Amino acid sequence: MKFQSGVLKGLLIKRFVIKTLAGIVVSLLSFSVYSGVGEGQELYNAYCQLCHGGLGEGQVMGKPLTDAMANRLSDQDLLAVITDGRSGTGMAAWGGSLSETEIFDVGSYIRNLQGKPALNLNDNDSGPSDDPVVLAGEQLFNSSAGCATCHSYGDQGGSIGPSLDGLSSRLDNDALMQALLSPSASIASGYEAKVIEQNDGTRISGRFRNDSELAVQIQSEDGRRWVTYFKDRVKSISDSPESLMPDRYASLGAQEQEQLLAFLKSL
Ligand code: HEC
Ligand code: HEC
Repeated sequence: MKFQSGVLKGLLIKRFVIKTLAGIVVSLLSFSVYSGVGEGQELYNAYCQLCHGGLGEGQVMGKPLTDAMANRLSDQDLLAVITDGRSGTGMAAWGGSLSETEIFDVGSYIRNLQGKPALNLNDNDSGPSDDPVVLAGEQLFNSSAGCATCHSYGDQGGSIGPSLDGLSSRLDNDALMQALLSPSASIASGYEAKVIEQNDGTRISGRFRNDSELAVQIQSEDGRRWVTYFKDRVKSISDSPESLMPDRYASLGAQEQEQLLAFLKSL
């Protein structure tokens, strides 16, 4: 018994330390919250990234959350692992320290890292819209406006930009207009870009991951691959002040803008 309570005390202290540290991280983060950064991302960065990596790529103490195994978890199983943990592994049960909504948000963020739409266990979801303006906007999004190359909603679209599921609950009108009209003014966290200048002078810019002393990985233009650039084999690597998001919205006609906006607000 004595041993057990010692262990318990140790666990409680550990949890206290983790929570306190996480609290500090969260309050630091809130100074630099970009528009569109969900609650789930803040929670993830505070509690999970240490073991699972900033983009879910995995670290020494935790497995990747973007591999085939994690991708196969059903929504229910994903939430269950976070809530109940996996006994006998480093994955603790978070049900005691995070609320159901927080677990849902962090689960949604993991789906985001997997390039999938956010969790939606809401049965009374109104389903696809039948508003003709929204439908015209959806059409534009997927065709001439070219948004779908980089953004997903539901289970379709690209992964260069963030998934736009749940957009309306993340961005208010001002933030949405800023995202569309001056994308570089505030860049969604995790979607910053780097510019690589190669020895022959050509420049490549893209979303990056695994930035280390030796190399950095840049997402290919079609979003499908991560290409490794060794730092001693290129001329320079720098942070890009520019968003990867083109300001195409501004060049659309007034009616098209209205349609696209109606569609975005329906997400
Ligand atoms: C102390 C390190 C650690 C922390 C912190 C941690 N995890 Fe884990 N997590 C693990 C390990 C280790 C596993 C693998 C367990 C196993 O072997 O099945 C895991 C597994 C998982 C899985 C299942 C993945 C799969 O492919 O089956 C999910 C989902 C997950 N963690 C989410 C989270 C979330 C969300 C948080 C933050 C609230 C978190 N983890 C915090 C170590 C950690
Ligand atoms: C070449 C890829 C690309 C294209 C094409 C693109 N975007 Fe983006 N978009 C991004 C990236 C990367 C970000 C995140 C960086 C940022 O915040 O500027 C982003 C951010 C956004 C955001 C903010 C999301 C958030 O959660 O903060 C919205 C809204 C958005 N895009 C809408 C659109 C619409 C509408 C179109 C089509 C007119 C479009 N994008 C076309 C890459 C793209």
